[in-house]
Amino acid sequence: MGQSNRQFILDEIPQGTLTPAHFRLAEAERPVPADGEVLVRARYISLDAANRAWMQGATYRSALSSGQVMAGGALAEVVESRAPGFAPGDIVFADTGWQEYAALKAGQLTATPKMGPMPHLLSIYGVTGLTAYFGLLKCGRPKAGETVVVSAAAGAVGSVVGQIAKIKGCRTVGIAGGAAKCALLTRDLGYDAAVDYKAGNTRRALREACPDGIDVYFDNVGGDVFEACLFNMANHGRIACCGAVSSYDGAPPPHGPRGVPGLIVTRRLAVTGFIVMDFHNEWDAALKELQGWVESGQLKVYEDVIDGFENLPTALVGLLAGENIGKRMVKVS
Ligand SMILES: NC(=O)c1ccc[n+]([C@@H]2O[C@H](COP(=O)([O-])OP(=O)(O)OC[C@H]3O[C@@H](n4cnc5c(N)ncnc54)[C@H](OP(=O)(O)O)[C@@H]3O)[C@@H](O)[C@H]2O)c1
Repeated sequence: MGQSNRQFILDEIPQGTLTPAHFRLAEAERPVPADGEVLVRARYISLDAANRAWMQGATYRSALSSGQVMAGGALAEVVESRAPGFAPGDIVFADTGWQEYAALKAGQLTATPKMGPMPHLLSIYGVTGLTAYFGLLKCGRPKAGETVVVSAAAGAVGSVVGQIAKIKGCRTVGIAGGAAKCALLTRDLGYDAAVDYKAGNTRRALREACPDGIDVYFDNVGGDVFEACLFNMANHGRIACCGAVSSYDGAPPPHGPRGVPGLIVTRRLAVTGFIVMDFHNEWDAALKELQGWVESGQLKVYEDVIDGFENLPTALVGLLAGENIGKRMVKVS
C-alpha cells in the first residue's frame, strides 16, 4: 500500500439519535490526482448542524448513504496540482469529506480570501459569518431600536447574528438550552436578555423578555421554539428561516408549529427562507464589512476548535447536543 489516508465511513444511517457508533474509521490509500485534479490535505474540518440533516434525505445537496466517506466541508491545503489556478500551499475550501486527503476536480475547490487567522475562514470569514450576515440583514431587515430574537444563540451562526444585531442598534434576546449557556449569552456574548428553551414555557418567557413583541426572529431551530416565537411576533415582524436543528437528530416532531398560517396573516409577517449561496455575488462586500467589525473590536469571534482527526464523530454528536460555543471545527493537520 502507498501512503495512507484515514477516513470516517458513515457506516449506518441513524434512525434515531446520532452516535459515534454510526461511523467507522478506515484506512485507504492516498489518492493520486488525475489530469485536471488537485490533491488536497484537510487542515480544519467544519462541523455543521447540517451534517446531520444530510443523513435524512436530499436537502440543498444530495442525501448521504451508508458506506460512503462522511461528507463535510474543510479548509484544505493543496499538496499537488494537476489543474491550472492551484499551486502547492494554497488554502482552499472544499467538500473533502471526513478524510485526511482528497483528489478533487478544480471546479470543486473554492479559493479562500486572504484573511486570517486560518480558522476564521470557517467561522466569521466563511459560510458561518456570511449566513449570519445575509440572513439577518437581507431577510430579517432589522432597524435600530427593534427587538431581535435569535435561537441556537450561542452557536456558530447565532453568536454572530446577535452581535450584528447589536451593531445595528437593536435590542437582542438569545434563546439557548440550559441555565449556564443562558448566563453566558448575557455575560459574554452581548445579548440583552436570554431565554432557556429547556426550562419550559418558552412562549411565556419570551413574552416577558419581549414585552413589545419580536420584530425580527432569526430561526436556526424550527419546531417548538419557532412556534413560541411566532406567537410573540409584533405586527409586520420578519422571520428569517435559516435552519431547523430541532428536527435534524432523532424522530420527526409529532406536529408542525401551530399558528401557521393564521398568525402570519393577522400580524402581516414576512417569513423568508434563504441559503447563503443565494448571495454569492455580494460575498466580497460582506466579508469586508465583517472584517471591519472584527478589527474594530465590535464583533468577537467565537471558535471551538477540537484537536485530532479521530475526534470527528464525537465532535458532531456533541454539537447536536449543544456542547459548542461558537463555530465548532476539528483541526486535522
Ligand atoms: N441557510 C443557510 O444557508 C445555512 C448555512 C449554514 C447553517 N445554517 C443553519 O444554521 C443553523 C445553525 O447551524 P450551526 O452549524 O451554526 O450550528 P450551531 O448553532 O453551532 O450548533 C447547533 C446548536 O443547535 C442547538 N440545538 C440542538 N438541538 C436543538 C433543539 N432540539 N432545539 C433547539 N436548539 C437545538 C444547540 O444549542 P443549544 O444548547 O442552545 O440547544 C447547538 O449548539 C442550523 O439550522 C443550520 O442548518 C443554514
